[in-house]
Parts: sequence; structure tokens; C-alpha cells
Amino acid sequence: MSVIVVNHPLLQHKLTYVRSEDTTTDNFRRLVREIASMLAYEVTRDLPTELIDIKTPVASCKSPVISGKKLCLVSILRAGNGMLDGMIDLLPGARVGHIGLYRDPETLEPVEYYFKVPEDIRDRLVIVVDPMLATGNSAIAALSRLKEVGVSSLKLVNLLASPEGIRAVQAAHPDVPITLAAIDERLNEHGYIVPGLGDAGDRIFGTK
Ligand code: URA
Repeated sequence: MSVIVVNHPLLQHKLTYVRSEDTTTDNFRRLVREIASMLAYEVTRDLPTELIDIKTPVASCKSPVISGKKLCLVSILRAGNGMLDGMIDLLPGARVGHIGLYRDPETLEPVEYYFKVPEDIRDRLVIVVDPMLATGNSAIAALSRLKEVGVSSLKLVNLLASPEGIRAVQAAHPDVPITLAAIDERLNEHGYIVPGLGDAGDRIFGTK
């Protein structure tokens, strides 16, 4: 399935300041929100539309509105929450779910500690958001869990990805398109994306 890198100059400019270690918490948060809006714009590019009849002050006409499945954003806690507001700015009617996962220190497998999604999620197009696609383990687990509850239309949106993470998600979920701002060089031995931006959660929430 497709990987779309949004190579817009405005987005790439903002991403540079997100990456920089000199960027303050307030600016980091704002920039992630702004980039998330741009990613929301791109990830919804193929939504179906239908024509409805309206009257402008000048004349009657047919004009397009979004049709098809309603949307649900699902944030992978906690860093995914940093992207939610920017996406909701553009998609104000979207429902929002949350999935919390931690890595078991012995098995290194993701373990779910929180799962709250709308009751009708299986009828929606679900857009999973997480700034960093590093090993891919959390995204894979989140996508599997959503499929378990019956979701059949899924997309994944990240800020940055490693080539390893993309390969892993594509192998596990070949049906899920990925939209992101950049694909970086690699993962380092601590599981960080290089050059990346550091720990997205810590930088969004100012916890370091
Ligand atoms: N999670 C992060 O926040 N940063 C990385 O580089 C990798 C995973």
C-alpha cells in the first residue's frame, strides 16, 4: 500500500524547526499542531464527494460535500495527542479514540493499557495518528486491535518514520496507507529515529 510523503515547502520548513533542539516547548507544540493540519489535508485528499443543491445569493447550483464513511481519529498515547488538535481543526466532526500501549520490558512486545473508541467505529474511516513511526510495533499493534473490533478502513499518519518502521507496518498491514512528513535515515540502537526530533512525547508535553 502507498506511502505518501508530503513534500510541501511550508510543511518542510516547519518540520526543520520541530527537529531543532533549540525549539521551545510552546513552539514545538504549535508546529506539530500546524503540521498535523497539513497532514490531515493530505490524508483526506481521496475522500469521496457528492453534489448537493444549494442556493448562493446569486443563483442555484450543485456543489460538492464530503460523502461516504464518517471519520474517526485514533491517537496512540501519549504523543499522538499532540497531533489531534491540528487534525480536528480541519476535521471538526471527527470522533476521537485513544489507544495506550507500553512495551513489556521482557518480551519487548507492546501491551495495551487503554482502549477507548466510539461504539460505531467499525462504520468509520479510521485515521491512526502517532508522530513517530520508529520500530513500527505500536502502530502495528494499534492497527491490529482496530481490525479486531471490526474496522476495515484504516489510514496511518505520522510526522517522521524510519525505513524499518515503514517496512514493518507494510508487512503486517499492507492494506493501510501511510501519510507522513519525512522518512529519516534509520533507527539507532535505542530505538530513536535518526536524525529525528528526539522523544516526541517529552517535547510536546515538556516532560524533559
Ligand atoms: N519515539 C520517539 O518519540 N522518538 C523516536 O525517535 C522514536 C520513538
